[in-house]
Amino acid sequence: MIQIRGLIKQYGLNPVLRGVDLHVPAGEFVTLVGPNGAGKSTLMRIVATLLKPTAGEVKIGGWLMPQNSGRVRRHIGLVSHQTLLYGDLTAAENLQFFAKLYRLDNSDDRVAEALKRVGLAARQRDAVRTFSRGMMQRLTLARATLHEPDVLLLDEPYTGLDQDASALLDDLLRRESAKGRTILMITHDLVHGLNLCDRVAILSRGKIAQEVASGEVTGAEFLDIYAAQTGRKAGMTKANG
Ligand SMILES: Nc1ncnc2c1ncn2[C@@H]1O[C@H](COP(=O)(O)OP(=O)(O)OP(=O)(O)O)[C@@H](O)[C@H]1O
Ligand SMILES: [Mg+2]
Repeated sequence: MIQIRGLIKQYGLNPVLRGVDLHVPAGEFVTLVGPNGAGKSTLMRIVATLLKPTAGEVKIGGWLMPQNSGRVRRHIGLVSHQTLLYGDLTAAENLQFFAKLYRLDNSDDRVAEALKRVGLAARQRDAVRTFSRGMMQRLTLARATLHEPDVLLLDEPYTGLDQDASALLDDLLRRESAKGRTILMITHDLVHGLNLCDRVAILSRGKIAQEVASGEVTGAEFLDIYAAQTGRKAGMTKANG
């Protein structure tokens, strides 16, 4: 579904991605990890069609980017640092707004279903500015999946969530994955990321240094692999995020 070959991205003279090769088959859940500044968000923004690569090939669903961005964009859902939610609107109004933006049919049903799915039906008439970080994140996920995208992209969706909110998000992501969506997620919580997904890709020094299938290694083994590939102790990274 997502095919990346020889991807290069430079910001000015600063080479961030130096030949990234990554294939995420349809329906697979891949976690992308790597040190701060490795270029994970840059890579995700290119896949999300928000940023143009310097060189290399990115295809989504067989469509070459960025030439076919317009066609592909509506099949992508993105959860990033910006929630893209409006504080003064209610939860339902926020989703209605996006339903109009995506020109979705039967938007009332879709919005009601999405609010139920993320456990916010009871709070749908409350202004989003009164929401906790966890509720906000669930609503962001509802927004990102409202149009039933084939590809779901998540940049550190766990940042700032407590244990209960994290567990809820785990559950939501497992369900999105079970629906057959192709998921690419960035996290700094290495073992959590490993356990949640099918495969972890380690981005280091501008390339995918190694890919690890989640069933093949224990958490401890993965931390050793990560340390070897990045030259950093995994314990030095944020515990959550
Ligand atoms: N718009 C930009 N202009 C110039 N340099 C940028 C820009 N965006 C990112 N960079 C640089 O590219 C590098 C990779 O940044 P990026 O945000 O992709 O890393 P990351 O792996 O997501 O890091 P983190 O774990 O801290 O989120 C960094 O050195 C950053 O300073
Ligand atoms: Mg980032």
